[in-house]
Amino acid sequence: MKLFESFSINGKLTVNNRIMMPPVVTRLATTEGEVTDALIDRYVLYGQGGAGIVVTEAVSVKKRKSGQLLRLSEDEFIPGMKKLTERFHGETDSKIAPQILHFLKISRSGYRQTVNDLSLEEVKEIPELFAKAAERARTAGFDAVELHFAHAYTMAYMLSRFNLRKDVYGGSLKKRLLLAEEVVEATRKAVGDDFTLGVRMNGDEFALGGNSLAQGKAIALKLADWGLDYISISAGGKFEDAIPHEGEALDPYTGYSGHRSMPPKWMPEKVNVYLAAEIKQTLNEKGFNVPVITAGRIPTAKIAESVLTNNEADMVAIARPILADPHWPRKYQEGREKEILKCIYCNKCREAEGAFEEVTCFQWKKKDGSTSPPNP
Ligand SMILES: Cc1cc2nc3c(=O)[nH]c(=O)nc-3n(C[C@H](O)[C@H](O)[C@H](O)COP(=O)(O)O)c2cc1C
Repeated sequence: MKLFESFSINGKLTVNNRIMMPPVVTRLATTEGEVTDALIDRYVLYGQGGAGIVVTEAVSVKKRKSGQLLRLSEDEFIPGMKKLTERFHGETDSKIAPQILHFLKISRSGYRQTVNDLSLEEVKEIPELFAKAAERARTAGFDAVELHFAHAYTMAYMLSRFNLRKDVYGGSLKKRLLLAEEVVEATRKAVGDDFTLGVRMNGDEFALGGNSLAQGKAIALKLADWGLDYISISAGGKFEDAIPHEGEALDPYTGYSGHRSMPPKWMPEKVNVYLAAEIKQTLNEKGFNVPVITAGRIPTAKIAESVLTNNEADMVAIARPILADPHWPRKYQEGREKEILKCIYCNKCREAEGAFEEVTCFQWKKKDGSTSPPNP
């Protein structure tokens, strides 16, 4: 199967297969942003399960508290991250990259900062924050870095039609792209040309007034032109259609756009694959061959394989099915499909994340009340 053939990401990083474990928050970091042994165990498990590359949960580039969110905002986080990469590389033959993000303030009082509220000084510090975090990631021994330009966070909103800033960073798409260009430029300079620098972006925001695939294609063309080494296509995850709950901070994954990010079982299989497919076709037509990655409701190796053979994407990201059974890739490769604990897309994992509780698959729960992942 094409799925299990080794693959070179933009000629820089060879991975064992075309399966990516994309970012899935574990809530196993400390509230100070440090890695823990339990968090390292989880990533080692994903690596041992056979995914070609594991991208970690989002890691903050800025010193700001937000529950159990990993950080690379200061040098003091390098030793912990180094411990993670050393164990990962020592105990698996997979590759690992952190997803680095910048996010906006939000509180239980109902206050939510938007990109329109950021001062020019706050915007101008962002490229350097990404660059420094990426440099720390390389120092800590990661194989690549992924820039988080998707969902509900600063970079996605800067790129979005929701960005109504009146200065050089907002308004027209050209202006909305400026910060992204500065972030890519600064980060590339910090990590060097030989290092794999990928990006995750929304193919469509699925929120009224936000970006659609038309903007998604235009953004992807720019990202390819700026030399990103892969473009991972996600979708949705916006505040505009989120469902408010009294006394809780607004959760961008509760409305329709949120469901497009983590499609529940009532949505069709491969529901977002066409976004990657159309973006890939647009890129290829303009002469860009940067790998395009797709995600969302790809439950089986057979369906993943069809995505590759139809040329809809170059790699497939499998999140909740690998959370449910970290050995999803290896078991499929070894013809042991029957032994796989299958994801049922119930989104209880997502609910745990939203409640700041450890993220596991609810199917891991045993009758005696204990919780453990399925056997290798
Ligand atoms: C609990 C949970 C946490 C997630 N955390 C992140 C994240 O930190 N960054 C990100 O880009 N996507 C995140 N995602 C989205 C996944 O990477 C993936 O795109 C999505 O779940 C769809 O893929 P799937 O259908 O294979 O699960 C998360 C998803 C879940 C369920």
